[in-house]
Amino acid sequence: MKDQINELRKDALNSLASVTSRLELDAWRVRYLGKKSCLQAVLKGLGSLPADERKIAGAETNRLKNELECLLREKQAALEAASAQSPGQQDSLDITLPGRPASLGRLHPVTKVLHEMGVIFTSMGFEVVEGPEVEWDYYNFEALNIPKEHPARDSMQTFWVDMPTGEKGWEMLLRTHTSPMQIRVMEKQTPPLRIIVPGRVFRYEATDTTHIPMFHQIEGLAVDKGITMADLKGTLYEFSRRFFGPERKVRFRVDFFPFVEPGVDMAVECAVCKGDGCRLCGQSGWIEILGAGMVHPRVLEAGGIDPEEYSGFAFGMGIERVPLLRYGIDDIRLFYSSDLRFLRQF
Ligand code: DAH
Repeated sequence: MKDQINELRKDALNSLASVTSRLELDAWRVRYLGKKSCLQAVLKGLGSLPADERKIAGAETNRLKNELECLLREKQAALEAASAQSPGQQDSLDITLPGRPASLGRLHPVTKVLHEMGVIFTSMGFEVVEGPEVEWDYYNFEALNIPKEHPARDSMQTFWVDMPTGEKGWEMLLRTHTSPMQIRVMEKQTPPLRIIVPGRVFRYEATDTTHIPMFHQIEGLAVDKGITMADLKGTLYEFSRRFFGPERKVRFRVDFFPFVEPGVDMAVECAVCKGDGCRLCGQSGWIEILGAGMVHPRVLEAGGIDPEEYSGFAFGMGIERVPLLRYGIDDIRLFYSSDLRFLRQF
């Protein structure tokens, strides 16, 4: 037994002498002091020895164990001191490792679509303006030819802001569409006017795969002498050509909005079924993307513009639908759940 222990000591000391790094030292520790080391095997074997031999051999083995632990600590200290003196040469810095990439943020898909649309409309001479998200009911409804008793208000249940009414008796709400900015711009500027208004709008609605209480719209307004429906169609056709591509068919249909006369809705051919009808387009082959029309004379008047002299067109488009259609996303809530697995795809 004594020979065995001496052998072990010699072996361990020899091997320690050639250790030059922390990694090697750790391997040495596992080999000579670890759970599966020869030392442990010797300790385990002690049980089978006669009592007097067991005592001596036990003391010897423990001494060796203490000695090796002491050497380990010394070597550790020596290696640390060496690496502090010449850090570049030790294993603490591996300059061949690839760098850690900095994680860059990116634009939200809705922001991207808004930017793209902004580029198209500004190239056609429209100016980008923004308006308040908290609005007077006057601008959101009255001035847009939607009086208090008008049934169109029912389709736009809103969030009312609990505030004392303004000096004019107006109440505050979260705007239900970007159209109020038509009035604000007409009040301040004189024609010719060409503006687009991107922004957030709010509706008091239950949430599901196609409805969320906050979404985005882009409003357009052009007022000048002699503006006709042909200008409206030309502008929106050109927008569609550039945004959806020249192959996409576009459809106009008569629709009603209190602030335009006549009013239309514009639909583009469904990207998924190419007009044959599918689940995404409700089997119709078309997807409605905006409402539009010739600005109602009463709306021009509310904005301080003489409808006898000027005419104009307006449109309002929902933004979330566009990336929804483009990428075939089936749940609008994904845009606002902050799930990076979803957002990183854009
Ligand atoms: N404001 C309407 C909505 O939110 C959309 C709209 C329709 C805007 C016709 C317009 C328009 O400017 O002319 O449903």
